[in-house]
Amino acid sequence: MKTYLVGLIPGDGIGPELIDAAVAVLSATATAGGFALDFRWEDGGAGTYRHAGANLGIGALERIRDTYHATLKGPAGLPEVRKPDGTEAGVLGGVLRRGLDAYANIRPVRHHGAGIDYVLVRENTEGLYASRDAGVGNDWAHADQLLVTRAGTERIVRKAFELAAGRGGAPADGVQRVTCVDKSNVLRSYAFFRRIFTEVAADHPDIEACYQYADAAAYQLVTCPERFDVLVMENFIGDILSDVGAATVGGLGMCPAANMGDAAAYFEPAHGSAPDLAGTNSANPAAQILAAAMMLDHLGQPKGAQAIRSAVDAVAPAALLAGAAGCTPPATGSLRHCTEQICAHISSHMVDAAAQP
Ligand code: IPM
Ligand code: MN
Repeated sequence: MKTYLVGLIPGDGIGPELIDAAVAVLSATATAGGFALDFRWEDGGAGTYRHAGANLGIGALERIRDTYHATLKGPAGLPEVRKPDGTEAGVLGGVLRRGLDAYANIRPVRHHGAGIDYVLVRENTEGLYASRDAGVGNDWAHADQLLVTRAGTERIVRKAFELAAGRGGAPADGVQRVTCVDKSNVLRSYAFFRRIFTEVAADHPDIEACYQYADAAAYQLVTCPERFDVLVMENFIGDILSDVGAATVGGLGMCPAANMGDAAAYFEPAHGSAPDLAGTNSANPAAQILAAAMMLDHLGQPKGAQAIRSAVDAVAPAALLAGAAGCTPPATGSLRHCTEQICAHISSHMVDAAAQP
């Protein structure tokens, strides 16, 4: 039987309970799908920072890159744990994305039945956040720099076109389309990003290349989301727009993310660790579970991935999809109840599918 080594980073706040939910769903999927998952736990997040002064356990980065087939991470970062400079201390994202060179942050935004099905491709290793821990300033002023390199832009734009080539196009018209989102009317770094986008787009004549300023894109993600297929953008813009998109499909609690490099990949919800919900059995586990589905796609188990997505579509209550904001909860039940229903749906449907001639 095919066995995959999977790293697990529970994170903090609601992270541990979400990872428990995802492990239950993954285990049900593996059983029904005839493959095995060997889970390896790792420390990470604000808890680790508090007792060890680092965001990640010793050797974890190397194990994620060299040993595990993929890693599933819970949200991490307690807002009250701060570095002396005022930035948040428990945040693992920077350490993992930079440390693994996980340059592509793939954020699908999908609403089953509402004609919203696009993917934000967020550059993950440069842009404005290249200045993480590196801004300069004094008591009068501070500055952070926005870094756009040719190599960094080429690889993220290529990733976006490859993704678009494997999809069915925008829900509105079925056209495969990649939209470059920037503020090239204002900043030279963004004009450079757009120039490189145009160069790479020329290698993909079958896919429509579009351009949009980030402010206009934010507006259209809300007013006509069905026109979008794949969007590619600089790190900071992607951070903001992925939350905008989430607000249109039932909240951040519905939105997963993949962080992909050439040597490693890890998967997480797009939301934070919601410390106020921790331990209340009320956080929405959908984003974490959908992140697990993305991981199965990456591992080469697309049937399992699809079974998870179908189960979430069937179980995540219509009320939630219709507009609940933030991470808050399956209106019809608890985190654990919702997870059990998803597991049951997978077990019955995957077994049914396997039984068919
Ligand atoms: C995200 C988060 C992270 C980011 C934080 C937690 C570092 O907001 O993944 O979108 O800024 O990228
Ligand atoms: Mn964010």
